[in-house]
Amino acid sequence: MKAIASINFKGGVGKTTVIWLLAKYIADREKKKILVVDADAQMSLTLAISIEESGGFQGSFGKWYDSYTQKKETIFNALEQYDLYARGKKRHFDFPIGPASVYQLSTNLHFVPSVVDLYWLELEVFDRVAMKDFVRSWLGKLQHSKALPSYDFVFFDCPPSFSLLSYSVLSSCSLVLMPVNPDVFASRGVGLMVDGMKLHISPWPDPAICVFMNKAGYYASGYRAGKLQRPTIFYQQEVKRVVDQLRTSGTNITALDSFIPHRVNIGRAIPGAYFPDDFEDHFRELWNEMQTHL
Ligand SMILES: Nc1ncnc2c1ncn2[C@@H]1O[C@H](COP(=O)(O)OP(=O)(O)O)[C@@H](O)[C@H]1O
Ligand SMILES: [Mg+2]
Repeated sequence: MKAIASINFKGGVGKTTVIWLLAKYIADREKKKILVVDADAQMSLTLAISIEESGGFQGSFGKWYDSYTQKKETIFNALEQYDLYARGKKRHFDFPIGPASVYQLSTNLHFVPSVVDLYWLELEVFDRVAMKDFVRSWLGKLQHSKALPSYDFVFFDCPPSFSLLSYSVLSSCSLVLMPVNPDVFASRGVGLMVDGMKLHISPWPDPAICVFMNKAGYYASGYRAGKLQRPTIFYQQEVKRVVDQLRTSGTNITALDSFIPHRVNIGRAIPGAYFPDDFEDHFRELWNEMQTHL
């Protein structure tokens, strides 16, 4: 089981969209067992999936979600329990992971939703140093759960900020997927993210960081079919330049050649509960390239 996180401090770059469609692609088309964790208090993935499932919080997902929160089976409750254990107030990390804490969307695709409590995480007096190992311990429990399958990959959708939970995710994952868009923030954002991560996650566990262009300008038809548009090429080169500098200074970071094109229909895929066929080649290429860094 390997953990992969989508991270960028900038909102709207496609962290949620790409991690979800990648998970769906691998679960549906490559028949791998996947767990997706919504680690963002803004709950965009959780809300989109609740619409997908039942047209709102009224259907089967909604019922399951009510008991998930009422019975204190959420990721936030797990954090609370881990904190008690880390402070020596409990002998064990007392949080059984099973079907009450993981929603089974399909045979291969399971989901841990977000909760609004995560908004207030930074105000809780959690021990920051101890919390670093929370996700590692949580993944260990997941791996040993007899009621759940053994997952091939766990994907974390992280917030556009450095929360206590994303700190722990970054400290435990094997690969960080960093989507950027063809704009001036792309290369600057990569530099800022990596410098911040190196400064705050110590000792730096060195996950592979894969940067790639989402919302790439791309000619799908016409005489330039299959080619990237000029601004996208320019910003992709800028990103490569920054990535090369970071590599020279010892960071395990790669600018991927694969990209996801800008197409508006992608926005309907999550609430519509489908994988958009016209994106299949791009997600396959992205996944194949990512795997060489796992
Ligand atoms: N490749 C793409 N082409 C067109 N729109 C996209 C693409 N990727 C994401 N979007 C749209 O951009 C918006 C932000 O995406 P989202 O995944 O929520 O970003 P983030 O999680 O980084 O905040 C959404 O409306 C989404 O549908
Ligand atoms: Mg998001």
